[in-house]
Amino acid sequence: MGDFVKLLNWDRYTLASAKGSGCGLADNMEDIIVKKKADATADDERRTTVKGRREFLKGSLVLAGAAAVAGGALRVQAASPFPAGLIYTKEAPGRWAGKEGAHAPKVTVEGRKIKVVTSHPMTEKHFIVKHTLVTPEGKVIGEKTFANTDPAAESSYELPAGFKGALWATSFCNLHDLWLAEFTV
Ligand SMILES: [Fe+2]
Repeated sequence: MGDFVKLLNWDRYTLASAKGSGCGLADNMEDIIVKKKADATADDERRTTVKGRREFLKGSLVLAGAAAVAGGALRVQAASPFPAGLIYTKEAPGRWAGKEGAHAPKVTVEGRKIKVVTSHPMTEKHFIVKHTLVTPEGKVIGEKTFANTDPAAESSYELPAGFKGALWATSFCNLHDLWLAEFTV
């Protein structure tokens, strides 16, 4: 009985003293203790590895998120050379993303004739205010101001004889600001 109490202590030193005392359980118990310690060590290692992986993944996700944000910002910058929050384009609609179809001016070129269309409803409280056709150097080729009673936001212009180069067509919505389409003739 004394040997059995010692074994209950689960102590290797105690166990060693119990061995050879005539208790046949002692030898088996030592094997069990060694195995349990080995299992516990393996568990610790596994937990450490899993934790390490989790930390690594967490770090990776943070880095990936940062890269995505940076990438997004870079894409917007690369797509539009115009000031964000001031001039919107089909490629860089900014805070008006999703509204580019009804706001970015569509340009048709036929010889020296330029047609600008904004596919936007014309209602009393929401309408296209104005179109302009201007060179990047600031020379205004033409402009047209609309009333909310106009049936559509469409304007036509004739280029000066011999004109070649880049042009900007702009369309201004009373609620969704200034949109620009760049093209070359
Ligand atoms: Fe609008």
